[in-house]
Amino acid sequence: MSKPVEYSAPGRINLIGEHTDYNHGFALPIALPERTTVTFRPADTDTLVVRSDREAAPVRLALGTVPGDVGGWAAYVAGVVWALHSAGHHVPGGTMAVTGGVATGSGLASSAALECAVLGAILSASGLTLDRVEQARIAQRAENDYVGAPTGLLDQLAILFAERRHAQLIDFRDLSVRSVPFEPEAHGVSLLLINSHAAHQHAGGEYADRRAACERAAAALGVVTLRDLQDRVPQVVAELPDSEDGRRARHILTENQRVLDTVAALHRSDFGAVGRLLTASQESMRDDFEITTDHIDLIAETAVQAGALGARMTGGGFGGCVIALVPGERREAIGDAVRAATRHHGHREPTIVATHAGHGAGG
Ligand code: GLA
Repeated sequence: MSKPVEYSAPGRINLIGEHTDYNHGFALPIALPERTTVTFRPADTDTLVVRSDREAAPVRLALGTVPGDVGGWAAYVAGVVWALHSAGHHVPGGTMAVTGGVATGSGLASSAALECAVLGAILSASGLTLDRVEQARIAQRAENDYVGAPTGLLDQLAILFAERRHAQLIDFRDLSVRSVPFEPEAHGVSLLLINSHAAHQHAGGEYADRRAACERAAAALGVVTLRDLQDRVPQVVAELPDSEDGRRARHILTENQRVLDTVAALHRSDFGAVGRLLTASQESMRDDFEITTDHIDLIAETAVQAGALGARMTGGGFGGCVIALVPGERREAIGDAVRAATRHHGHREPTIVATHAGHGAGG
């Protein structure tokens, strides 16, 4: 019996740049302080027994698992085993204990946190090193081809590259990642994370529809990916057809520009400008990409009316969390206004916390 290995991975907040990843665009995530931790005890066996503190029963899976064998939460673990195995790497058996610190179904990438923590634990236990982009691809493969959710690389790259007090500018065309200082508290501004508790999921459905619409729009515009139009956004946007696919493309193109503008504003510590970009992103997700809900819109709009510098839904959409940049002294009042508005509309009371950029996955 080898020594146990502990590895943890955070959830992420995408500050801005939604649904841009599979369009080879830009995004700007940070890591959450909340993390998922995996304790792996390798043993000389060809099965892996996985327990989660959130589930009653452990799951036993064969190291030769293939898509379709395991469903539910353990499919993310089995998917990593399968993806590593299919890439030709040896995966040891043993027991794994998962402690989940990231809220699930909230747009905070709890699935990718689990994948990256499992992957890191297996790699450490077997003395394998894979660079972070390769790790991200293995974890993504687990999600796409084992679990069946057609997601991009945002969550895994965000989690693997995150650094304390920084956001990461990811360029999905060449998968390069650049750190951008992100310390609003140093400027009297707080980042609020407002969990609506309206759960979402990405296996199929609306997420896949948006992806298909972007691909159709790119083809209609004669390019492989919408990113190919990025150096002439104003003209392209002005000429986009007023159709559903046209609006989907407009969101992606304008959102990429907002990510770059946010990075520039952060370099100037201009949180007023960052806030306006967040709100513009929220409006684009609401009107053009149509991935928000009335509940989410209510939270974001109430926060801004109560004095937030800006607010937007974060993550894949159709529920989950809203982030708001707020002047420190307005924190309580904005939280109270959001709670009152959701109560008034008959929604469950949101959980509201001030948060910050945490560190990335590690042992
Ligand atoms: C989910 C997916 C990501 C990304 C976001 C939207 O989190 O996992 O790949 O597409 O939605 O930005």
